[in-house]
Amino acid sequence: CGIVGVLGSHEAAPILVEALKRLEYRGYDSAGIATVHDGALDRRRAVGKLVNLSDLLVHDPLRGKSGIGHTRWATHGAPTVVNAHPHRAGPVAVVHNGIIENFRDLREELAQKGFSFVTETDTETVALLAQSYVSEGLAPVDAALKTLSRLEGAFALAFLFEGEDDLIVAARKGSPLAIGHGDGEMYVGSDAIALAPLTNEITYLEEGDSAVVTRSSLLIRDEAGQEVTREAKIINIDQSMVDKGNHKHFMAKEIGEQPMVLGQAIDHYLSKDGKSVNMPGNGLDFTKINRLTMVACGTAYYACLTAKYWFEQIAGIPVEVDVASEFRYREPPITDGTVALFVSQSGETADTLAALRYCAGKADSIVSVVNVPESSIARESDLALPILAGAEIGVASTKAFTCQLTVLLMLALKAAEDRGALSADALAQHLSDLRGIPGLINQAMGAEAHIKDVAQKLSEARDILFLGRGRMFPLALEGALKLKEISYIHAEAYASGELKHGPIALIDKHVPVVVMAPHDELFDKSISNMQEVMARAGKVLLITDSAGLKEGAEGTWQTIQMPQVSPVLSPILYAVPAQLLAYYTAIAKGTDVDQPRNLAKSVTVE
Ligand code: G6P
Repeated sequence: CGIVGVLGSHEAAPILVEALKRLEYRGYDSAGIATVHDGALDRRRAVGKLVNLSDLLVHDPLRGKSGIGHTRWATHGAPTVVNAHPHRAGPVAVVHNGIIENFRDLREELAQKGFSFVTETDTETVALLAQSYVSEGLAPVDAALKTLSRLEGAFALAFLFEGEDDLIVAARKGSPLAIGHGDGEMYVGSDAIALAPLTNEITYLEEGDSAVVTRSSLLIRDEAGQEVTREAKIINIDQSMVDKGNHKHFMAKEIGEQPMVLGQAIDHYLSKDGKSVNMPGNGLDFTKINRLTMVACGTAYYACLTAKYWFEQIAGIPVEVDVASEFRYREPPITDGTVALFVSQSGETADTLAALRYCAGKADSIVSVVNVPESSIARESDLALPILAGAEIGVASTKAFTCQLTVLLMLALKAAEDRGALSADALAQHLSDLRGIPGLINQAMGAEAHIKDVAQKLSEARDILFLGRGRMFPLALEGALKLKEISYIHAEAYASGELKHGPIALIDKHVPVVVMAPHDELFDKSISNMQEVMARAGKVLLITDSAGLKEGAEGTWQTIQMPQVSPVLSPILYAVPAQLLAYYTAIAKGTDVDQPRNLAKSVTVE
């Protein structure tokens, strides 16, 4: 969910809605705002995309210069108007991101005091608790602070009170929150991007902080209730990164940006002479590692699975990869010499953050690969490596994935160099190949029109399989994920060699099989697996290079040609046709590409 708050000198409603637009990636089940006007608290809420709230406000405007707003990704309770935020109880309105874990206990306590509930949400409990303290005679600020002291869980909150048009109380515990400083105005937001058009001067709250915000003051207390100073920073957000430009969708724009952002990421981590990798150490010593544990969710998890091949093959480090939601509850032993590596675009994914905290103090070093340097995961790491992809708005990750791969490969190369597993010449060769990647991606984009045609045909399928071998297997998984995320077509991926052990039973003439097979050391084996599919009337879409087409195209249903690439780098390059296939299939199906149903880009609940 996304949170915003404004104490302004103009009408707040349009400003809140504009800011919520920038937070819509955090959820879009429903949205709402509350304002204080002439002392009176009022709110408007609507189910579905933000545009429904905007429409409602046209017919039923909300006046007032101070307010809070919310865009929701449902956890407790269906996405209905009643469950939408802001939640109100008497003189209190609350917006909330995260989960209040002890809400059932609090609910019982409030019920005993005679309070009744109209929603199924944990947030309503927060509003009612604050109302109960106000009715006991506490001033609004004290009521909010006392409420906060009672809450368990991971959350960000903002309170607005009737009769107080110069006050927002905000808190951060597990979910990010930023305070923006304007000219006689103050703002609250889940991230700096939401506040970018309003101000670039941002104070990030630390874990456990609460903030009492007025137009002319900001008072922050830490978890222990002590007043603290948190430095304000100037954040530069390039406007072009958060605008769609001429593109129909953010996803198309972000796919197209890959040559540029990958080029920047490569340059950032390359030594001046271009022959070695330049990364800060921060205590990370690859010569002492005997195990690397990688943890992430979704697309970032597939980046980790790909990197496993690199760390093991190039650097000789044994690697374990796990999805974050499974990792810590298995209570895996973290033995001496283990480095824990977390990959996350947002840096706020609750599952990944919880896994990081499980490893803190146990692993030799906590390393993260993130897109948002100010994020919780970055802050809690010994070493945070930014992927420098720029803001990614499309919910389905594209450029962040290829940037994650690039940074992970460079880290693997650095590890190999430090451990003496790679000669200087071999390292220089890998890096020179990598520098060629942005150009190759540009060439791969040349297949876009053809991929669009293929996708049109693919969009008629009910189920689609993706196959890959070796380092192309995780990419097959990512290709299937991308497709199901945005086109809602059921897609699964298998290691090519595993197909015959069960999934081959699914093959018939209605199930297209996408085979990702560059002409590398495993090509012949991949082609044998592909033949097994074709022998059972399966329709194969082969994605390969010219050499692969020469040897493997016969009998296939469709082909897509990629440029020749060094085998180590093929997952980075082949991510592009996988993304374009998903994109154009979704277009053919008419789905909402940038905001697919049921998903959110940053999931801050476990
Ligand atoms: C969400 C998104 C996925 C994303 C995953 C991990 O579930 O819908 O697209 O891959 O979170 O996000 P992160 O920000 O940690 O990379």
